[in-house]
Order: sequence, then structure tokens, then C-alpha cells
Amino acid sequence: FPRFGLLFDIDGVLVRGRMPIPAATKAFEKLVDSQGQFVVPVVFVTNAGNCLRQTKADQLSHILGVPITQDQVIMSHSPLRMFKKFHDKCVLVSGQGPVLEIAKNVGFKNVISIDMLRESYPLLDMVDHNRRPKLPSNPVVNLPKIEAVVLFGEPIRWETNLQLIIDVLLTNGNLSSSHQTQNTPHLSLLACNMDLMWMAEAHSPRFGHGTFLVCLENIYKKVTGKDLKYEALMGKPSELTYHFAEYLIRSQAMQRQWELPITSLYAIGDNLMTDIYGANLYNRYLEERVARKNPKAVAKMAAATGSSAAVPGEEEIDSLWESELALPSATSCKSVLVCTGVYNPNAEVPSDANQCIKETVFHGHRDFIFDPALVEPGHIVQDVAGAVDLIFEQEKFVPQ
Ligand SMILES: *[C@@H]1O[C@H](CO)[C@@H](O)[C@H](O)[C@H]1NC(C)=O
Ligand SMILES: [Mg+2]
Repeated sequence: FPRFGLLFDIDGVLVRGRMPIPAATKAFEKLVDSQGQFVVPVVFVTNAGNCLRQTKADQLSHILGVPITQDQVIMSHSPLRMFKKFHDKCVLVSGQGPVLEIAKNVGFKNVISIDMLRESYPLLDMVDHNRRPKLPSNPVVNLPKIEAVVLFGEPIRWETNLQLIIDVLLTNGNLSSSHQTQNTPHLSLLACNMDLMWMAEAHSPRFGHGTFLVCLENIYKKVTGKDLKYEALMGKPSELTYHFAEYLIRSQAMQRQWELPITSLYAIGDNLMTDIYGANLYNRYLEERVARKNPKAVAKMAAATGSSAAVPGEEEIDSLWESELALPSATSCKSVLVCTGVYNPNAEVPSDANQCIKETVFHGHRDFIFDPALVEPGHIVQDVAGAVDLIFEQEKFVPQ
């Protein structure tokens, strides 16, 4: 039986934009048996968030030529399932794609979109002169008071979303009232995907949701003089995401009736600030846990890394451990960096592996502290096929 599980990043590891990376099919031939069943537990952990898990699973099945189920996919919004105390509240959602459907799918029952706000309050969205209301209107406002804001991913019209989200925060969820810049604390804000940039087909990285968050944080700070605060930040490198991944890997091993627990995890990615930082942060947590045999170490970890906003409070973690996620069987999570994505757009073999690590400015989120040890990859390989070979070798694993 395998004693290890694999976490694959998608963009820059398995695909570039819509184009599959050739090494991916080679890697996955080794991961499934002749019946198409995985020989080791595998999950896909992506910070993408603009579709349902099933849609992503279908895309992956198509690209990799092996059947992938939605239980193998973790999107940046998947941990929202754990935030049950918000599921009955009226939440405003921001992002693109089927955001209302995604919100309902993770458990929210009472959801309002930015478009619904625009329709009810046509005087608020003024940046695009062509979209301003032509005639004075007196719409019937029958929206309930908004109680929390959920940011799924980068929206299409940034100016509209920035304006209306700031409006909601400054009016405490009631857009019929005027701005109160002295409101403290502001409404609860949950954000998925902190990636500043991501790599598509273009030569240079593209704006990600992290760039949108930078805008929102800075506008809020400029207008109110106070820091915008997150109730939770999820998606890599947040530990919440890795807790989920570990749980799904453990579930797969149980379903397959592999008798020995999965103790090692390997996270394969192309981004130092998300994949490598996140895996190393989770590894620190697992090591502390082993050392102390105390799940509360996670709270101390959060304090030590300055990522307190990224994990829920201690109380919530306790109930979370007891309920859905139980206790991890993994005792380590090793990071493996590939050079087919953000760090090597031309996909050339690096003469010196350190060529991959050129980060001189910190592209991580405001609430995560830069710690050089956390962006140090455990291993550097050319591509995902190289990663699988290396891991099999490390684990002395020979598929039957
Ligand atoms: C919103 O504010 C307006 C104006 O202050 C007030 O008349 C209205 O009752 C409030 N609505 C809610 C749902 O609190
Ligand atoms: Mg990536």
C-alpha cells in the first residue's frame, strides 16, 4: 500500500492556460493502474475558483485522460463549507462565473450578487459613463441587509465591484443609508484566492484575485484610515486548504481499504508564494503537532507566522477537528517545485536549479509574513513527470 499522498497544483503544473503540459500525461500514466484506478491518493488543489468542483474534475479528466472525481478537487472556495455560522446569513458575493451557484453549493442559503445590488441601487455604479442610468429612476429596494461579504475571485468590472463592496462595508450592509467611516468593526469579509498573479499563455504573469484584494485593502485604508480585516483567507497558502486536502487524501485511502495510514504528503506546484509556502507552512504545523501531540498548536503556528487572519479562531478549529476533518494521519508535507509555470515561462531546463528562485519582492498577501524558510522548496524538478519519478524513488514505491 502507498504510505503517501499527492497534492497537485493545476495551472503551471498540468496546464498552461488551456494547453496541457506534455509531462502531465506522462506523469498520470504512472499514477493509475490498467483499470484507470489511482495507485496512490491524489488531490488537485487549485486557487482557481470560477467554476464548480465537478466542472474542474471533468476538465481534468479530459486533459489527463484518466477519470477524476469531484472529491479529488479542492478549489479556493471549498473551505467555505466549514464556515457554517455564515451559511444562514445574507451574503454579498463577488467574482465571475456561476458565483451564485458556487455559493449555494458550498452551503450559503441567502446570497446577493453585485448585479442584484446594481439593479436595486442604480445610482451607485458611476465609473463607466455609458452604464450610468439614463433616466432618473426610483427603484423598489427590497433587498435584505447584507451581513457578510464573500470574495470568490477577480470580478470582470473591477470598478463596479470595488465601489459597491466599499459601499457595503461603509454602510454596514444597508445601501439605503450613507457612508459611516467610523464603523468598527466592519462586516465580516471572507476571501478566497490571494494570488497576486497567475501564469496563462502570455509570456508574463496576469493579474489575479490578490491584485484585486490589494486594491480593495488600499481603498478601504485610504477612505477610513483603518485596516481592512478578513474573517478568513482561503486558498493556498492558507492552512485551511491543506487541512481539507489531507482529509480528502485520508478519505481516499480509507475508501480503497488501504490499511496503513498515509503519513507523507507531497505538494507539487510552480509558485513559491502559494504552493511552496503553503506546503511548508502546513508541514510546520504537522511537525509541531507531532512534537506536541496537541492540535491547538495550529493556533500558535498562526500567531508565529503572522497569518492569524488565515485560520479561524481556536474555538472554531476545535469544533472543526471534532467534526468534519478529525485528526490528520500525515506527519509531513514536502514541497516540490516544477519549472513549467510562473518561474520558467520558456520551459527551458534550468542550468542551475536556483534559477527558479528569483523572488526579490514579496508577492504574498498582506497578512502573511515573508519568511525565507517557507519559500524554500524541498525539491526542484523540471516538470510534473520528474516530480512523480522523484517521489516514487523517495518512497521506494513500485506500482504493481
Ligand atoms: C436602511 O437604512 C434606511 C435609511 O436609514 C432605513 O430607512 C431602512 O429601514 C434600513 N433598512 C434596513 C433593512 O435596515
Ligand atoms: Mg500554479
